[in-house]
Amino acid sequence: MSARVIDGKAFALALRERVAAAVPAFRAATGRVPGLSVVIVGEDAASQVYVRSKGKATEAAGMASVTHRLPADTTQAELLALVAALNADEAVDGILVQLPLPRHIDESAVIAAIDPDKDVDGFHVVNAGRLAAGLPGLVPCTPLGCVMLLEDVLGDLAGLDAVVIGRSNIVGKPMAQLLTARSCTVTLAHSRTRDLPAVCRRADILVAAVGRPEMVKADWVKPGATVIDVGINRIDDGAGGTKLVGDVDFAGLSEVAGAITPVPGGVGPMTIAVLLRNTLVAAHLRAGLAPPAGL
Ligand code: GUN
Repeated sequence: MSARVIDGKAFALALRERVAAAVPAFRAATGRVPGLSVVIVGEDAASQVYVRSKGKATEAAGMASVTHRLPADTTQAELLALVAALNADEAVDGILVQLPLPRHIDESAVIAAIDPDKDVDGFHVVNAGRLAAGLPGLVPCTPLGCVMLLEDVLGDLAGLDAVVIGRSNIVGKPMAQLLTARSCTVTLAHSRTRDLPAVCRRADILVAAVGRPEMVKADWVKPGATVIDVGINRIDDGAGGTKLVGDVDFAGLSEVAGAITPVPGGVGPMTIAVLLRNTLVAAHLRAGLAPPAGL
């Protein structure tokens, strides 16, 4: 069997177009466009690339983008002062502090300082609590993007067995909460899970978010299962260069799964598209408006 390859790039593009299409009505209602402020501290090369992409995508959607680039020796107090200023700025609907931060800065203190209603990453404990309690709030971009892809492929997820590998606050835990809210039976597996292959073989939906290149093998997968690969790992390509691979053995799993996301071009493009969606939603809620349907 050859699995359907889930085109995250095309889905993300369509979501970005829906977000952009909703901006004029927001502008007509409020006299301004939604605004996203991104903060980056230091020179981490991968973070610079991500932040540039986020800024470009925000502008392409017709929203206001401001990037604050701070030197690596910025103090925690200086960063907290910037976050406080962005919290107080009425033109700012979304605040994203790019992670990782330099080691002398306490990431959780910085995230805790962001106004939860502007926390478009969904990392604040208030938003984590809202998600756990089934209350409306801002949801982390990557897992929400995964759920959008799953619903596009499978429709209603109710009753399906889902296994999520990886228990991070950014992907694994919110993913488990989102699938629970859609009435899946969820197992949150991790590095201490016993007989992980047997656990995975129960899954109708298998989500891998562990950061280990090609760890999940074909014989871990129930025939016909839907596989979402959140991993982005750069490895030696055996020909003197490097290549990107996910957390699953794509070639092997393609023979067993019913549908599978590729790397690149699967989950990756969804993260920025959902960030724009979250910024639009935050802007509506802050303005006392109902967010547009279908996002
Ligand atoms: N670093 C890598 N991914 C992310 C993300 O989604 N949000 C933030 N704030 N930092 C990141």
